[in-house]
Amino acid sequence: MSEPIRLARPDVGEAELAAVAEVVATGMLTMGPKVGELECALAGACGTSDAVAVSSGTAALHLAMMALGIGPGDEVIVPAYTFPATANAVELCGGKAVIVDVDPDTFNLDIGLVSTALTPQTKAVIPVHLFGRPVPWAELRAVVPEEVALVEDAAGALGARYRGTLCGSLGVMGCLSFHPRKIVTTGEGGAVTTSDAGLADAIRRFRHHGIVTRGDYDIPEPGFNYRMPDLLCAIGIPQVNRLEELLAARERVAGWYTERLQHLVLTPRAADGDRHGWQAYVVQLDRRDEALQSLRAEGIEVQIGTYALHHLGAYRDQGPFPGADRAFARALALPFATTMTEAECDRVAEALTRFA
Ligand SMILES: Cc1ncc(COP(=O)(O)O)c(C=O)c1O
Repeated sequence: MSEPIRLARPDVGEAELAAVAEVVATGMLTMGPKVGELECALAGACGTSDAVAVSSGTAALHLAMMALGIGPGDEVIVPAYTFPATANAVELCGGKAVIVDVDPDTFNLDIGLVSTALTPQTKAVIPVHLFGRPVPWAELRAVVPEEVALVEDAAGALGARYRGTLCGSLGVMGCLSFHPRKIVTTGEGGAVTTSDAGLADAIRRFRHHGIVTRGDYDIPEPGFNYRMPDLLCAIGIPQVNRLEELLAARERVAGWYTERLQHLVLTPRAADGDRHGWQAYVVQLDRRDEALQSLRAEGIEVQIGTYALHHLGAYRDQGPFPGADRAFARALALPFATTMTEAECDRVAEALTRFA
């Protein structure tokens, strides 16, 4: 059998090893200088005045909801097709995640349906740039009242752009993830990007037990330990510094796939004028389940796209969401990494052709 093709292969090597070794040598494994260094690089990469590093993308979403004061009686609109952390963050604050269907072709919120879900209790919307495809921001902003906060789930959209504007700087906050399948990875990690100094302060407090750094040892409100250690921040810095190179490599691999597959299955793309982040390359086909089994059997690691929230026990009472149903049944994530070769893309495409 040929070599297996992994679903994802983080682009980490000598630079990351050296960065970790440097931190180990200093003995300052957490709460040291690498946190601020990564935050500065991320704010630059997202076009915001601040970024706050946290322990995961889930922590970023949770703290964004905490910073907005989401609690019982509040509603937050989330897409029906997303990683469940988007909705969990709302519910864990005591708020209600109000599910809105997606456009199955783009996987993103169906903007036409958002206004029907708005109520006087709606405090925020969390649009997800799913798999790196920017949400049509102007259309969304036009239907959402000014007092309702837009918080980007940009877990897979670092470096992606909506009409030239960087994802992570479109909403009042952006939430990034550095999980190994993401564009920049630290193993586990995340960040909240924002240009609102008050929100950045609140996130910093909540990530560190609620401690206010003013010297009187008070904790006015309880917080978490959602800190990101220096060891992991150090791994992220060289990657953020070569973000453009990583994005270009992802674009190249996506191009190879699209060339081979666009006439056979529904292939992903950004809207005209936008830049896709290519966190994942997710196609759609009717015979998805057959393809998934067969490709896996020949060593090609494929995966479903993501979850349809209303199929989960935690969110089963809402619906129907035909767009999310369609995406959930048809989406197939192909192996995707900066280091993929054209020959590997050929192998995946040939295997998939049998099911198109
Ligand atoms: C859209 C989306 N939001 C949030 C998350 C959560 O990120 P993390 O795994 O870093 O907690 C993920 C991770 O897969 C994601 O894909």
